[in-house]
Amino acid sequence: MSEAIEYERIGDIAVLAANNPPVNALGVDVRRGLLAGVERAEAEGAKAVLIYGKGRTYFAGADIREFGKPPQDPWLPELCARIEASPLLVVSSIHGTALGGGLEVALSTHYRIAVPSAKVGLPEVHLGILPGAGGTQRLPRVAGTEAALDMITSGRHVRADEALKLGVIDRVAEGDPREIGLAYVQELLDSGAERRPVSEMPAPAPVDFDAVYEQVLKKGRGQISPATAVRAVQAACEAESFDAGMQRERELFMELMNSDQRKGLIHAFFAERAVGKLPELKGVEPRMLHQIGVIGGGTMGAGIATAALLSGLQVVMLEMSPEAAHAAKERIAGNLGGALKRGKLSQAQFDEIMENELTLATGYGALSNVDLVIEAVFEDMDVKKQVFTQLDAVCKQGAVLASNTSYLDINEIAAVTKRPQDVLGLHFFSPAHVMKLLEVVVADKTAPEVVATGFALGHRLKKVCVRAGVCDGFIGNRILSTYRTCADHMILDGASPYQIDKALTDFGFAMGPFAVADLAGLDIGWAVRKRKRAEGLDPRARDSNYADKLCEAGHFGQKTGKGYYIYEAGKRGGVPNPEVMPLIEAERAEKGITPREFTDEEIVRRYMASMVNEAARVVGEGIARRPLDVDVTLIYGYGFPRYRGGPMKWADLQGLPGLLADIKEWAKEDDYFWQPAPLLEQLVAEGRCFDDLNKEAS
Ligand code: 3HC
Ligand code: NAI
Repeated sequence: MSEAIEYERIGDIAVLAANNPPVNALGVDVRRGLLAGVERAEAEGAKAVLIYGKGRTYFAGADIREFGKPPQDPWLPELCARIEASPLLVVSSIHGTALGGGLEVALSTHYRIAVPSAKVGLPEVHLGILPGAGGTQRLPRVAGTEAALDMITSGRHVRADEALKLGVIDRVAEGDPREIGLAYVQELLDSGAERRPVSEMPAPAPVDFDAVYEQVLKKGRGQISPATAVRAVQAACEAESFDAGMQRERELFMELMNSDQRKGLIHAFFAERAVGKLPELKGVEPRMLHQIGVIGGGTMGAGIATAALLSGLQVVMLEMSPEAAHAAKERIAGNLGGALKRGKLSQAQFDEIMENELTLATGYGALSNVDLVIEAVFEDMDVKKQVFTQLDAVCKQGAVLASNTSYLDINEIAAVTKRPQDVLGLHFFSPAHVMKLLEVVVADKTAPEVVATGFALGHRLKKVCVRAGVCDGFIGNRILSTYRTCADHMILDGASPYQIDKALTDFGFAMGPFAVADLAGLDIGWAVRKRKRAEGLDPRARDSNYADKLCEAGHFGQKTGKGYYIYEAGKRGGVPNPEVMPLIEAERAEKGITPREFTDEEIVRRYMASMVNEAARVVGEGIARRPLDVDVTLIYGYGFPRYRGGPMKWADLQGLPGLLADIKEWAKEDDYFWQPAPLLEQLVAEGRCFDDLNKEAS
């Protein structure tokens, strides 16, 4: 027997317990153990087999680390077929999660019982594949075609009570999975229950698969796995036999397994788990947090306070005046109202938070006892310095002092205090109670336990936390500034904002850069440009002014109803603003530029190359630890299509030599903007890729 599956005999029942921490993934040892266990039970004359998982879960799926490597026997589909074909009564007892291959194993057993907290699902599409061990063939047979299509194309986790209604499981019972499983098997044996192979059930009823396919394809914004899964479910309904359906599932599964999207999504899965693991924080204890302070209750401060309150922290909100404090309170109540509406919060919890957990203040004395404070006042260095000077004077020793600045130098801010070791950046994204990304910005003197506290706070607020170093814009906004500049250059040279936005949404971005600018507020970029010009631009840099003219006309994007697009109340999205192109054309004329055509492909290539090149600098300078930190930042904070794995993974898949060659070619027209990043040149020279750096760092 394999150690990953423990065999035990209780009377007529053979018990197979999975012991492959942390999530009982169905790696080769587990598969071999299950096969051997079923064979032994049959050889020893048992009447039934119970399968359950030790530790925190039943099987959470195939072992993702095996993907892309040579397959090892037994394959999961064969194992499932073997389990199902056993002459013994085979039963699963589920707790934790039965996901992907885990649910497929469960569906190949003849009966399924689960504890109320269990969840089941087929989330393979999120990894760029589809259920490949009979999930697309068995689930529609037990749950019906529509429910199966919903579960498989969304990949959602379904709670035990819903799974019971859908027929995916047969019973829900409280208790230990082994005990409830044994009792259920005994009951089935006593009642003379028969084996119930799902593959022998009638084929499910067909639906209009072409319509579903188109709908799912559109929703996927270029992601192919959910739509491909529709075709596999179609085979369950239409194929001549169960085996023919399985054959079709396999073909489609292999197609996806060999796709770049699968590589991108699996990279994203492991990258988002790796970002929080910093060697220097091993064994470092974060400081305790009970009460935090937030300074400035505008867009960001109110969002941060909301996230903190929802996580159970007490919040002291400091504003400039009673009126501003009242407005902040209203914003927080509005945000929490959203949570109330979505059922994430009860009315009693809402009232409790507003009455007892949130304190409003206008004087710094209120912050004397907080454990951590996040400043979210105007983006102005002098204002930030005043705030931190005051914090240094009033906050207790050991309090963590954080700034939510988007671009400013945390070292300079920390230097106004006598405790720079306690200062760091916590850069949230708007809306802060919704967006998952948090950049934890580590300044020169920030103490490790303060960094650990930043990560602990982020995790408590359910954020994906990425470590960043200090520079203008940290990881995300620094890279954003570069690819925005690239877009500006293409505008001056002949592209339109609308063509660029379309090319990039077709590439898979949630929004194009000009629609994003309208959403964020054009005044933000305007302020950054003014600051950079005041600091002095390099004379070789190409500057542009059409965006400033738009702001000068009072158009700040969605908040004023007009920017690159015009927004009408009640309508989603906007239509192009006719004032924009004349401003661009005037600037081209002023600069003597004859506009040229850009293909969508060239737009994407230049935009992406500028992003990757700057990202390579960010990694080369140690602002981001590893390429994967950049990938996670762009996916979670900037709408980068997850199925492409992030810009660095995309670059690896494209091939770094080709990208570098393009950059060098474009440098012939503008050798200031298109200077190749040293790290990119080095990797190409050494025949390596960004993922090699990830591997070296892990
Ligand atoms: N294979 C290999 N490793 C896995 C894994 C899997 N299927 N699922 C989780 N892990 C690893 C994680 O990488 C992590 O490793 P680390 O500690 O070294 O970072 C560890 O297990 C714990 O995972 P989480 O940190 O994610 O733990 P949580 O408790 O937050 O979440 C979970 C648990 C809900 C099971 C979550 O891990 C998850 O969603 N896993 C993926 C589930 C999945 O997609 N299953 C389908 C796989 S594809 C498949 O089955 C194909 C089949 O159809 C043929
Ligand atoms: P905002 O203008 O909406 O809010 C700022 C708030 O700070 C106002 O309510 C103001 O009354 C208050 N304030 C100003 N000076 C203060 C002081 N001395 N004491 C107490 N309160 C004071 O600005 P927003 O957008 O919330 O930005 C705040 C910070 O967050 C800035 O540093 C910004 O760069 C950063 N940020 C903004 C993001 C965004 O998308 N808006 C995203 C990430 C960071």
